Amino acid sequence: MCSGRVDPVLIMESFAAGADGVMVGACLKGECHYSIGNLQAEGKVEVTRRVLRRMGLNPERLVLRMMSSAQGGRFVEYVTGFQAAVAELGPLGSSEGVTGAELELRLTAALNAVSDKKLRWVEGKWLEFQEDGNVYGEIFTLHELGRMYEEVVLDECALQEIRLRLKGRPQTALALSREMRIPAYKVLRHLADLRRLGFVVLGATASGEPLWSAAQTRERSSALEGDVRQAATGSVRGQD
Ligand code: FES
Repeated sequence: MCSGRVDPVLIMESFAAGADGVMVGACLKGECHYSIGNLQAEGKVEVTRRVLRRMGLNPERLVLRMMSSAQGGRFVEYVTGFQAAVAELGPLGSSEGVTGAELELRLTAALNAVSDKKLRWVEGKWLEFQEDGNVYGEIFTLHELGRMYEEVVLDECALQEIRLRLKGRPQTALALSREMRIPAYKVLRHLADLRRLGFVVLGATASGEPLWSAAQTRERSSALEGDVRQAATGSVRGQD
């Protein structure tokens, strides 16, 4: 009904289902039938593009295009232009050098990241932070917001990626750092957070280095994540 209802979970599910590109169509600014849906969509797409980039996937595979229902020509122009751009990039992961099981893992981590309440919260604040400011009344410029959101996205994606990479495969922090393309000290910081939350445990050592593995119990948290995803997708399908 409105671009503001296009949840990042739906976007990531489209990529996971095999889409090589996703274009979100929205009304022109000031013309959303629900007032600010298209402005909220900007925040959702912005966060999702950052998640794609963190996962080593080209963010140009996701675009937001605004047009009115009277601009048929512009719609055709946007669709054909985007189709050509995606065709040039090729299948998802091919131009990025990420394929097979690695691509699957990164898409799952991305899907988990956009399903998590932390990213959902920052998406929801995108407009508010620009117009009304935070609880202290501080208004953020787009540049400041971008920097702040980048940090949150990087952290959340890394946490999700670590959890997936440790499933059934204990690893050292160094090995994780190599696989995840981030410095070891950052991996250690994330591991410490995950350990505190009960998602990972320290096990035996390999060549003198501690091995980390996924904890067996966190059913409640997983169930909550499932609920969030269902809420994002189920009601849309219910309207179909
Ligand atoms: S109705 Fe909200 S973007 Fe079109």
